[in-house]
Amino acid sequence: MRIYCAKDYEGMSRRAANIIAAHVVVDPACVLGLATGSTPVGAYQELSRRCAQGDLSFSRVHTVNLDEYVGLGSEHPQSYRYFMRKNLFGQIDIPPANTHLPDGLAPDAEAECSRYDRLIRELGGIDLQLLGIGHNGHIGFNEPDQAFTLGTHQVRLTQSTIEANARFFATEAEVPRAAYTMGIKTIMQARAILVVVSGAEKADIAYRAFLGPVTPQVPASILQLHPHVTLCGDLAALSKLMEAGAEVCG
Ligand code: GLP
Repeated sequence: MRIYCAKDYEGMSRRAANIIAAHVVVDPACVLGLATGSTPVGAYQELSRRCAQGDLSFSRVHTVNLDEYVGLGSEHPQSYRYFMRKNLFGQIDIPPANTHLPDGLAPDAEAECSRYDRLIRELGGIDLQLLGIGHNGHIGFNEPDQAFTLGTHQVRLTQSTIEANARFFATEAEVPRAAYTMGIKTIMQARAILVVVSGAEKADIAYRAFLGPVTPQVPASILQLHPHVTLCGDLAALSKLMEAGAEVCG
């Protein structure tokens, strides 16, 4: 694993954008796995800026997002489809048909999960998967104690995730209780993984995920077994890892 440590959120976002942009430059028709949450927003802004300046093109890129709330349609402002349109897809030159997320309104959950796994396979797999980490170590919506062997599936969200995501909704009661998520198996099959972490409140989980034991109780800890992971964080988020002697390359 390579660890890059930036001074602050802006620096981390620029570094993450560099890594994503490099993949697009090397393979303009690559498949990017994308994430929501507040951590990747700065990287998305940076990529949008480079695209607007004509330095980068996503016209042949395909994207597959990690997850979507069950019950929210693409026009719902808290749906992840809406989030992606607002923060990235609407700002870059990617054809909308090349952008994929699970469909929160799909009538048949099992069929939707199979469709999504099939789609990823037909695209040739994911070249670079971007991940944030939840406070409880979740990646996508793979909550603690789920099997590492799952593909896309439906999950019930834990109370801690519902509380963490309530900030995006008017009330906690409005947060959907279920979501579709790529499974750990799908994530681990990506050829490369980029994890972004920011802020002191992520320092403990970053430490447990990358220096603690590999255990389903901390879903992100499985990433220690992936051969091509880059962790990109700011000083606050990486402080505990660095105190423990983790090697940082820049
Ligand atoms: C949500 C998303 C995750 C994301 C997590 C952390 O639960 N499903 O993919 O990593 O939030 O979000 P943030 O970056 O806002 O801390």
